[in-house]
Amino acid sequence: MEITSIKGFRDILPEAIGPWQWLEAQARSVFEVFGFREIKTPILEKTELFSRGIGQETDIVSKEMYTFNDVKGRSLTMRPEATASVTRAYIQHRPYQTYPIQKFYSIGPMFRHERPQKGRFRQFHQINAELFGDPGPKSDADIIFMSISLFESLGLGDLILNLNSLGCPECRPRFKERLKDYLADRKTLLCPDCQRRADTNPLRVFDCKIDSCKEVVLDAPSIAEFLCRECREHFASLQNYLNDSDIPFVLNSQLVRGLDYYNRTTFEIQTERLGAQNAVAGGGRYDGLVKLLGGPDHPAIGFAVGVERVVSLIEDERPFPYKRPDLFIAALGEPADKAAFRWMEALRGNGLWVELDYASKGLKSQMKKAGRLGAKKVLIVGDNELDAGRGLLRDMLTGEQAEVDLTDIIKVLKGIFKDEKERESED
Ligand code: HAM
Repeated sequence: MEITSIKGFRDILPEAIGPWQWLEAQARSVFEVFGFREIKTPILEKTELFSRGIGQETDIVSKEMYTFNDVKGRSLTMRPEATASVTRAYIQHRPYQTYPIQKFYSIGPMFRHERPQKGRFRQFHQINAELFGDPGPKSDADIIFMSISLFESLGLGDLILNLNSLGCPECRPRFKERLKDYLADRKTLLCPDCQRRADTNPLRVFDCKIDSCKEVVLDAPSIAEFLCRECREHFASLQNYLNDSDIPFVLNSQLVRGLDYYNRTTFEIQTERLGAQNAVAGGGRYDGLVKLLGGPDHPAIGFAVGVERVVSLIEDERPFPYKRPDLFIAALGEPADKAAFRWMEALRGNGLWVELDYASKGLKSQMKKAGRLGAKKVLIVGDNELDAGRGLLRDMLTGEQAEVDLTDIIKVLKGIFKDEKERESED
C-alpha cells in the first residue's frame, strides 16, 4: 500500500519552491544588513523548555505540542516556535560575554498540533529574528523596521502593523485583576476553556476565536489605561520612532499574542488577503524570558514570519517560472558520448545547467527528453560531426538550427549563453 504524508504535513515540490527560495534569500539579505546572524537550533528540545518558556496555560503548550518520551523515558518536544530555543542557545553559549547586543535569525520548520486549514499547518515554517541585550524602545523600533523592510523588499505593501504594549510586572497585575473581575461577572457567557482562563490567565481570553468570547471582550478594560509611567513612556517613544520613519501602525489594545513570555511591545503584521489566518508575522518584547530559563536578567525582543502565509501572498503577486536547463547535449556514438560528458562537466563548472541522456538512446529519443525538460538549446553531435569538428546547435524556442565549431566549443557556448543572459536581464 502507498504510504502518504501525514495530515497537516506537506511536501513543497520543486514546481512550488520558487517563492520559498526567494523569500529566504530576501530575509537573509535584509536581516544581515541589520546585523542579524544566522543560527540553527535543534528541532527537538526538552519539553520543559517550552512549557516553562511559552507558558502552561497557552494553547500551544496545553494542547498543540508534539511531545513524546525517548527510549530513556525523557520527555522531548518538537519545537512549536523558535524563541525559546534561541534563548536557550543564548544562555548556554553566553555570546553576550563578547558583545552585549546579540542579534540572531533562523529559518526552519515548527510543529503545532492545530486543526489544519487554509494558512494553518501542523508543520509550518518560520523566519525568526531575536535581539538580546537592549530594553528598547529604539531596538523595538529597529526590529519592527526590519520586519517591514523584509515585506517591502518582497513588494508586499498592503500590510497592516498592529501594535500594543502589554505593560510590565509592575503594572500588568493591576490590569489582570481588573480583567478578572470583568470576566467573572460574565463567566456564563464564556466558552469552557475561557471560563478556566478567566481565573488562571485572563489575558488569553482576548485570543479566543469563539464568537461569544469575542463579544464579551469587546467592552473589556483596556491595558492602555493601566500602563505604569515607564511603560507608557516606552510605548510613546516607540511610536515616535515609527512615526519619524513614516511607518504606519494601528493601536490594538487587545493584541495579547498567544505566548506568555511577552511584556511591553507586542506587534503583529496582518493582511486582509488570507481570510481567518491573517497574521503574516508576529512578535514582541520578552524581557523576562532569559532569566526565567535560568540565564542572566537580559531583555530581548523578536518576531517570526509565517513562511507559508507569505509565500501564498507572493504567489498571488507574480509568477515564478519553472527553471529550465540551458543546454541538452544529444550525442550519438561512443566518442561523441564521451566528449559530451566532458563538455557537460566543463560547462557546469561555468555555471550553466547542462543535461544529457544517461541511457544514450537514439537522436529522436534524446530530442524528446530535451523537449520534456524544457532545455533552451540542444547541441547535436554524432561521431561524423565530431570528426569534422562541427556540431549543430538548435534553439528549442525558435526551432532555428546553426552549425557550431567544436574545436573551442566551451568558449563558444559560454559566449552564446552570456549574451543570452544579458539579453534576458535587460528584458
Ligand atoms: P506566533 O504568532 O505563534 O509567534 O507565530 C508567528 C507566525 O507564524 C504567525 O504570525 C503565523 O504567520 C505563523 N504561524 C503560526 N502558527 C502557524 C501554523 N500552524 N501554520 C502556519 N503558520 C503559522 C511566535 O511563534 C513567536 N515565537 C514569535 C516571536 C519571536 N516573538 C518573539 N520572537
